[in-house]
Amino acid sequence: MKNLKERILELKKEKNAVILAHYYQEADIQDVADYVGDSLGLSQEAMKVDADIILFAGVHFMAETAKILNPSKKVILPDLKAGCSLAESCPPEDFKKFTEAHPDHIVITYVNCSAEVKALTDIVVTSSNAVKIVESIPKDRPIIFAPDKNLGKYVMEKTGRDMLLWDGSCVVHEAFSLDKLIALYKENPDAKIIAHPESETHILKTANYIGSTAGMIDFVKKDPSNKFIVATEAGILHKMKQEVPEKILIPAPSNEDNTCACSECGYMKMNTLQKVYDCLLNETPEITVPDDIMKKALVPIERMLELSK
Ligand code: 13P
Ligand code: SF4
Repeated sequence: MKNLKERILELKKEKNAVILAHYYQEADIQDVADYVGDSLGLSQEAMKVDADIILFAGVHFMAETAKILNPSKKVILPDLKAGCSLAESCPPEDFKKFTEAHPDHIVITYVNCSAEVKALTDIVVTSSNAVKIVESIPKDRPIIFAPDKNLGKYVMEKTGRDMLLWDGSCVVHEAFSLDKLIALYKENPDAKIIAHPESETHILKTANYIGSTAGMIDFVKKDPSNKFIVATEAGILHKMKQEVPEKILIPAPSNEDNTCACSECGYMKMNTLQKVYDCLLNETPEITVPDDIMKKALVPIERMLELSK
């Protein structure tokens, strides 16, 4: 009897499908994926897919972005309820009113938002290119930055630009405990702290390195240190352990009382290996985006890809 992973790999071939997975997916899902990456890498990869079906093992806004970038492909997501607290914090109707109240502002949105919000945007950014893209905006243009106020504050500090911030945040990255982190660091003074910029300022202030998930993986590979405290969703540890098996990786502690004593994104973890199999087998749930939204949302995503080169 074949196991679930073997059956998924077989089905993938049979259906001419590819699996794109985010670093926060459970280890078993990452293992059956054709590509595992951060939001920027996943968008770039989705655009290049030649297969008939893209199974997106990530959250809804990521699958939607893949559909917008490669509309002729069938894009499927194992669980349609796999959302994101940042995307939910920014309802399109409210965001529209906000942008209309500041018509002179250039609108920059973090990719963690709905296609409708992207359609109201001038340029999309991810955590790996936000600083570079904001730096490219002429100094006299005022900027709206949404929906992540923590990433927004970080970008403001790095660029020296003032930006009008939307009041959104990531529930996972806001749950890191500064007190527990300091206590952990005292026990491990030889460790380097690395953090995702969705974390709050007080956590970022402790960090030796701040970057996207792909950036963090790259850092632990290149940095000569042997021990790292990792402040982002715990799924990233799977790839990190594969890349640097000889190094010690400690997940940053969360305020939440959860089973892994670390931070897990409940939305990302809605996808399971069984759901990946069912999704491939039934080719559903499928991601659809209305044509007009698709057209409008593509423009700021393409600007981002161009500015990321
Ligand atoms: P990355 O683009 O850095 O992978 O971030 C995605 C995300 O949702 C972080 O919470
Ligand atoms: Fe959204 Fe945070 Fe989960 Fe990333 S970790 S998908 S930002 S809720």
